[in-house]
Amino acid sequence: MKHLIVYSSVTGNTKKIAEAIAQIFDEGADIFPVEAAPPADDYDFIAIGFWVDRGTADHKTQAYLRTIHGKKVALFATLGAYPDSEHAAKSMANAAALLADDNKLLGSFICQGKVASRLLEKFKDLPEGHPHAMTPEREARHREAAKHPDANDLQKAQEIFASLLTKISLVH
Ligand SMILES: Cc1cc2nc3c(=O)[nH]c(=O)nc-3n(C[C@H](O)[C@H](O)[C@H](O)COP(=O)(O)O)c2cc1C
Repeated sequence: MKHLIVYSSVTGNTKKIAEAIAQIFDEGADIFPVEAAPPADDYDFIAIGFWVDRGTADHKTQAYLRTIHGKKVALFATLGAYPDSEHAAKSMANAAALLADDNKLLGSFICQGKVASRLLEKFKDLPEGHPHAMTPEREARHREAAKHPDANDLQKAQEIFASLLTKISLVH
């Protein structure tokens, strides 16, 4: 069975998760940035990784998700918000909803990822009351995000995908 990992990553957070996941496939996996993704026809299982952009998958991954048919799929993502937040759950669900019904979604993983400093600079200038204006709570979240993905995130991603592999062999 051939495994494919396709990821979208602007600042490298999601790429780190993709590379960690690639290590768990004994028989190897092909790994590509979404811009260079090969035709999916040759693969049985595709792990698709994205960075969260305004509450869903980034645009390139949105387009890619729509092209996938009849595959076993698992999703992974990084975002600025906390991974156990409603926003994280919704962002993952919004991305999953872009997959056609003829795919089988086996599972997902999401963790925090450092937010680009150019975006944080913009937030600093926003007036009080703006939905993205800096508050002590948001600053704390960004400080935490700046530490991710860390070694623990990479390990968790590997554990989740390792258990998915068992599922794949069961639903083969
Ligand atoms: C334009 C833009 C929009 C973003 N939108 C969200 C968002 O809606 N929710 C969130 O939690 N993080 C958001 N983020 C943060 C990124 O998802 C996060 O930093 C991610 O780890 C970046 O991944 P990458 O390094 O693989 O590009 C956004 C970042 C940018 C630059």
